Amino acid sequence: MKLDSRNQVPDPTVGAAAPLHRSPSTGDGMMGALSRVLRGLFGKPGSGHIPSPAMTEDLSTPTESLPDEVAQMAASQAFAERRSSHVSDILVRALDALHCPVVVVGPHRGVRHVNAEARELFGDKVVGRNLALFFREPKALEAVSDVLSEGGTRTLDVKLDVPIQRQYRLVVTRLARVPGEGPHASLEFQEITLIKRSESMRSEFVANVSHELRSPLATLIGFIETMQATTEDPANVDLDAQARFLGIMEGEAQRMSRMIDDLLSLTNVELREHERPRNRVELVSLMREVVDALIARGRSREVDLNLSCPDELPMVCGDRDQLIQVFHNLITNAIKYGATGGRVDVTVDASRDGLPDGGGCIQISVRDYGEGIEAEHLPRLTERFYRIDKGRSRAMGGTGLGLAIVKHIINRHRGRFQIESTIGEGSTFTVRLPIFKDDA
Ligand SMILES: Nc1ncnc2c1ncn2[C@@H]1O[C@H](COP(=O)(O)OP(=O)(O)OP(=O)(O)O)[C@@H](O)[C@H]1O
Ligand SMILES: [Mg+2]
Repeated sequence: MKLDSRNQVPDPTVGAAAPLHRSPSTGDGMMGALSRVLRGLFGKPGSGHIPSPAMTEDLSTPTESLPDEVAQMAASQAFAERRSSHVSDILVRALDALHCPVVVVGPHRGVRHVNAEARELFGDKVVGRNLALFFREPKALEAVSDVLSEGGTRTLDVKLDVPIQRQYRLVVTRLARVPGEGPHASLEFQEITLIKRSESMRSEFVANVSHELRSPLATLIGFIETMQATTEDPANVDLDAQARFLGIMEGEAQRMSRMIDDLLSLTNVELREHERPRNRVELVSLMREVVDALIARGRSREVDLNLSCPDELPMVCGDRDQLIQVFHNLITNAIKYGATGGRVDVTVDASRDGLPDGGGCIQISVRDYGEGIEAEHLPRLTERFYRIDKGRSRAMGGTGLGLAIVKHIINRHRGRFQIESTIGEGSTFTVRLPIFKDDA
């Protein structure tokens, strides 16, 4: 969809004489930068500064047969016309180079020009039509009418659903008046979809954390009140019940404390995700250490934990403590949620081309033979606080942050993480880590 600039700007003086506005929300703004570029090229807009024809021989018409003054006037006029058309061509291209949609409207909101980004948004047949026919945002249309009649600038947020949902900060500014022309205004659409999305993610996160902390706190408060009530009458004290309550209270308090540790850990990993770890890590001993530490936990749930690992492996590039955290969580999950299978297999081996860059990697799989996970949950398991069965995970002291931490640690290592599962057969969580190279 390329632009024919001459069709798009019926009146070249609109672009040439109108000073482009500075966006109030972005300080200088793109339009401000464009305005400066154009001033640099052609002098102050509207200043009437036109270089003398003598200085621009290539643009002047041959005039030898005419008297000097007439010839000069004709040359000046020809030059001015050509200059005007050159300026409008360059302005059109400059507007097309902007990374945000810009629409210029004239009297009664008739569209005079759209830049390339705006044509992507609204289509290429909108010039000459009324803005209201393709931009159905009553508040924005009202702002445009106000700016056309009263001047100044209006800023408001708008949502456009087609072709995909996007949010924009719309800045409407009246252009300086062109003699003999009605009022014109520019509409600059600054995309804020990402900002809005991260704002809503942040508030969702805060809501999640408060909710997650509220339930153990409510349990604690409930038990404290029960115990206070029973201790008022010593005859009613049931020591067995009290011991049970204290056990539950301890579990809930531990879970809150773990959640805070996990949140801090997640924040730390996220903060350093762009910094790739550079240490050489020997995985054989690391995996033996993690498995040995969890064998007893497996036994307590009647799960056999098996490790299959060659005696020697190439080193990986990584952060040892973070990798321990990854495999600790994956194996603990397999023991917790796959216990019915009675067995968890951890397999470690080298692969020549397990990563997208074609580089060698070490592949570690944690396989359980439990109930398996429904396909619809798989893509969401690495979201913070996502648990298939909240009650079950909570009862086991889970916070729902383990796999989110795993994902960020693996990303930081430039590795790959894959989850496969079949209902009734169990699940396999596979981690691929790049092999250490001296130049890595
Ligand atoms: N091997 C598995 N089999 C079945 N479901 C699993 C398995 N591993 C994880 N899940 C599901 O994924 C959810 C998220 O796991 P994650 O490790 O992030 O949190 P958690 O184990 O509940 O708590 P945390 O690890 O923070 O203590 C679990 O609650 C569970 O529902
Ligand atoms: Mg877990």
